[in-house]
Amino acid sequence: METDRVIPQHVAIIMDGNGRWAKAKGLPRNMGHAQGARVVERILEDADHMGIRYLTVYAFSTENWSRPDPEVKALMNLLRTYMKTSLAKCAKNNVCIRVIGDKSRLDEDLQRAIAGLEEATKENTGIHFQIAINYGGRDEIVRGVRALGERIAAGELRPEEITEQMIAASIDTAGLPDPDLLIRTCGEERISNFLLWQGAYTELYFTQAAWPDFTKEELERAIDAYNRRERRYGGLKG
Ligand code: IPE
Ligand code: IPE
Ligand code: MG
Repeated sequence: METDRVIPQHVAIIMDGNGRWAKAKGLPRNMGHAQGARVVERILEDADHMGIRYLTVYAFSTENWSRPDPEVKALMNLLRTYMKTSLAKCAKNNVCIRVIGDKSRLDEDLQRAIAGLEEATKENTGIHFQIAINYGGRDEIVRGVRALGERIAAGELRPEEITEQMIAASIDTAGLPDPDLLIRTCGEERISNFLLWQGAYTELYFTQAAWPDFTKEELERAIDAYNRRERRYGGLKG
């Protein structure tokens, strides 16, 4: 059984429940985020060892700015620390990092740290690790459509020439395969504006475990469930 299991090429994760995890322990929400950040690092390594080629995690949505200012600051500081400290580890593990989302709203030092890490890891051939920051599926499509609109306005493109491939190439995940499996932790069963375009045929998996409690065993369970699915893409089983 184990051996003929298919490992999904691209796994996406909505890392939810940091706040509830902390609350249940009588801790401040930010402690949940701090623990959540440690779990991301472990799961990245586990995913790599399991043979997952692309891992995309939702770290901060376009809607998360509406949280109280101290919580937004704490989340940004965790991301800042990650960007500034993980270069050696990424080099050692051959990880290629890309941040998706609208980076222009982030503090300049964070933008610089992201650009530096992306540049330093871009030739790495190991796992591709995408971190979604100030990311919204709708926002990403708006930005992509604007870019195509500018090409039309410049006379380089006609509206009838726009294809699905062109839209896919105009959004933040350009060049990446669509996710095969999307995991959401902590019980909510919604997409919350994550990978709307890319997730057209993604298999969905929901677990009650809060993100700070997520483990390699949980990831294994999600992959086992994925292996029991029958993917059809609108056609009939081949
Ligand atoms: C996920 O945990 C992390 C982010 C959305 C940044 P939450 O902070 O949403 O935790 P809950 O859902 O309130 O428990
Ligand atoms: C989705 O979680 C965003 C991230 C995990 C970064 P939220 O907790 O923000 O989503 P909702 O509000 O429950 O839909
Ligand atoms: Mg939440």
